[in-house]
Amino acid sequence: MLSRTQFTVKNFICIIIKLMKRKISILGSTGSIGRQALEVIEGLDDKFEIIALAAGHNTDLLNEQIRKFKPKYAYADDESKIFGAKYITLDEICSDIGTDIILVAVSGKIGLKPTITAINNGIDIALANKETLVMAGDIVMPLAKEKGVNIIPVDSEHCAIHQCIKDISQVEKLIITASGGPFLHKSVTEMKNATVEQALAHPRWNMGRKITVDSATLMNKGLEVIEAHHLFAMDYDKIQVVVHPQSIVHSAIEYVDGSVIAQLGLPSMHIPIQYAITYPERYEGIKSKSFSFSEIARLDFEEPDWEKFKTLHIAYECGKLGGSYPVCMNAVNEEAVFAFLKGKIKLFEIIDTVEKMLELHKFIQNPSLDEIFEIDKEARAKTLELLSN
Ligand SMILES: NC(=O)c1ccc[n+]([C@@H]2O[C@H](COP(=O)([O-])OP(=O)(O)OC[C@H]3O[C@@H](n4cnc5c(N)ncnc54)[C@H](OP(=O)(O)O)[C@@H]3O)[C@@H](O)[C@H]2O)c1
Repeated sequence: MLSRTQFTVKNFICIIIKLMKRKISILGSTGSIGRQALEVIEGLDDKFEIIALAAGHNTDLLNEQIRKFKPKYAYADDESKIFGAKYITLDEICSDIGTDIILVAVSGKIGLKPTITAINNGIDIALANKETLVMAGDIVMPLAKEKGVNIIPVDSEHCAIHQCIKDISQVEKLIITASGGPFLHKSVTEMKNATVEQALAHPRWNMGRKITVDSATLMNKGLEVIEAHHLFAMDYDKIQVVVHPQSIVHSAIEYVDGSVIAQLGLPSMHIPIQYAITYPERYEGIKSKSFSFSEIARLDFEEPDWEKFKTLHIAYECGKLGGSYPVCMNAVNEEAVFAFLKGKIKLFEIIDTVEKMLELHKFIQNPSLDEIFEIDKEARAKTLELLSN
């Protein structure tokens, strides 16, 4: 039995350990990034306390996660299906409930509003949701700067660049690598007739369905170029995409003196997730396998096929035009991808739809947040109308 003094000391140590833990909330805990983040946290022995978990439909998995990680709060589309944690909204999770860092790992436009709320509350962000910056990078990044909030990228390419950069003013260009997806060396005809299963069969990464289809059309790389422009305040002319099928070099930067610094690693999202949530510390964590140059043996690089992957060109153009164009592009693409996943359109029709809708788009130079949501809503409605015809 513990003596009274021993008991008090033990309690005191427990309180100190609890206070030292980084308090984290995860939006999208049931998704590909969210599940891997929980694996990372489990592997970091007691360095994190989970304050809130948020999911969409998958309440079976969410409840399993609640039982295991015991967050105080949780969110799901259906409040009545949450057990063992208090239901609060996504915005409330991003408010003052004692979180140090929020991992935004929901997919699509749903990430934007809670991210803004978190920034307004001075909470650091580990950002996986690229749509947030594509839609509103001009609002999100200055706001984060004003509030002194860190936005640490989770996307492996941006995480790589974040790790390589010491002084952004000395950087000549960013070099973003792309695996090329399942249709890299397939003909246009093969790509045109691709089934959903073929588009989802990514050769390197196991990700959510939406981002996997975006990787097949290379729209994902286009979204990443826009994301990089905002994260690192870099002109589009200084962001280069290079195809690298092995996905070992996660991205690189070239300094003004011609030196190129790259970050390498096996294709695993555990590393960038861990980097983002533990930044600026580094821990051993669940690193699955040691990196070996001799085992990898060769690394290939090539120019993207701009003809076949028109989306990349479209994303650069929308990024350069700025304002409401990326908002429209993102919304139309997302709806078209969902239509493809439901078997309603072919893979190439995603690209055609994005092009068609952008031609009809009425440009707004500096949209406010409300206007961004309005543009997004309208673009989606018009896309659905076009696709139903
Ligand atoms: N996967 C990757 O390797 C990777 C790499 C880099 C960047 N990203 C980015 O990270 C984000 C997430 O990607 P992912 O692959 O993890 O996607 P995913 O597997 O489809 O997961 C999406 C998550 O968002 C949740 N969600 C969807 N709609 C929601 C809503 N209305 N309210 C609350 N939660 C909602 C889902 O919940 P339910 O499943 O419960 O419905 C799920 O937890 C995307 O923006 C993607 O571009 C992903």
